[in-house]
Amino acid sequence: MKDKISIGLFGFGVVAQGLVHVLKQTQGDRISIKKICVKDPDKARSLPDSMFTLDEDELLLDEDINLIVELIDDAEASYRIVKKSLQAGKQTVSANKKMLAAHLDELILLQKEHHVSLLYEPSSCGSIPIIRNLEEYYDNDLLQSITGILNGSSNYILSKMTGQGIDYAEALHQAQELGFAESNPTLDVEGIDALNKLVIITVHAFGLYVSPGNVFSFGISTISAQDIRFAKEKGRKIKLVGQVRKNQDNTLSMYVIPRMVSQEKYIYNVEDEFNGVVIKGAFYDKQFMFGKGAGGFPTSSAVLSDITALGYDYRYEYKKMKLQNRLEFSNQGIVHVYLRYAVESDFALFRFEEIRERYSSAGFNYVTGLITLENLQQIRTQLSGRNVFLAEI
Ligand code: HSE
Repeated sequence: MKDKISIGLFGFGVVAQGLVHVLKQTQGDRISIKKICVKDPDKARSLPDSMFTLDEDELLLDEDINLIVELIDDAEASYRIVKKSLQAGKQTVSANKKMLAAHLDELILLQKEHHVSLLYEPSSCGSIPIIRNLEEYYDNDLLQSITGILNGSSNYILSKMTGQGIDYAEALHQAQELGFAESNPTLDVEGIDALNKLVIITVHAFGLYVSPGNVFSFGISTISAQDIRFAKEKGRKIKLVGQVRKNQDNTLSMYVIPRMVSQEKYIYNVEDEFNGVVIKGAFYDKQFMFGKGAGGFPTSSAVLSDITALGYDYRYEYKKMKLQNRLEFSNQGIVHVYLRYAVESDFALFRFEEIRERYSSAGFNYVTGLITLENLQQIRTQLSGRNVFLAEI
């Protein structure tokens, strides 16, 4: 890359404003933002009007701009912009996990075709450098699983409900006010955001791209005080956890589900908007990465790290995708779950392999037992809108 980095920035939300601040605090003349493309012409902004445009081509066709940073939350627009940017031969940074999870297979090819680099550390776990570490340090076959709290907003909500007894709606409101939540917070609380990050992480951890639609995910939107009490009585906390693990038959299991986490686990003490990722592998056992997973400044620090990496032409090599021993995704795995339900017809949707415990009283029914990910995935869409809560034990 040239000595000077001239950035075309898309979006001026929490992370983009964080980036402007972080650049001002840390960088000299070498890195500057030339133009910012936004959607809303009328919003009051903290920079001079001359910095802004509504026309994306003003950035994408400007030959002076050698780096595009895309920080918008509209996944379709993000896809269009990132594609155009790569096709124009510009180095690119994106934080849009929804877009990346949906199109990463194609974007990997596009980078090769146009000899450009797309980096996206800020898309997964905010300030935690998970992707670059998986790419560089874990570039061998030892990895066995990645398990983590991958969404800051849902973790914030669970922390406030469990620790302070704040109700769900208030805790969600706080997460939105603090700038942690997506503009559509359903993505956070339904486990979709964590799933998108899991898809991205899996590409770098195991060299396999799996479309998010094939992976089971369940969020926290139906959690009740009863579920939290149930966990507490057992000395556990409920956390929204994403996991990808390599099985003995060379298949990969992936899923996102609330989990009753016991005290000896690393992620037990991960609170508020923090994320925590446990990396498990042969010979080294477990390692733990911890840091802020949401918020303007933490996420913009990951954007900055991608920008400076592009300054020396860093690119992901997708090393795991080149390994001989290719893995296949499978939903054959079995999970041990707690299911709280209100009506028998909801319970009847689930095909348990084995029921371990069953409890019924006025207003509180639950079962615990073993169920396949395949069955959960089959009924995934039917679970929406029902008063059921599911957590792995
Ligand atoms: N809404 C996301 C979260 C932002 O809460 O984790 C960071 O990706």
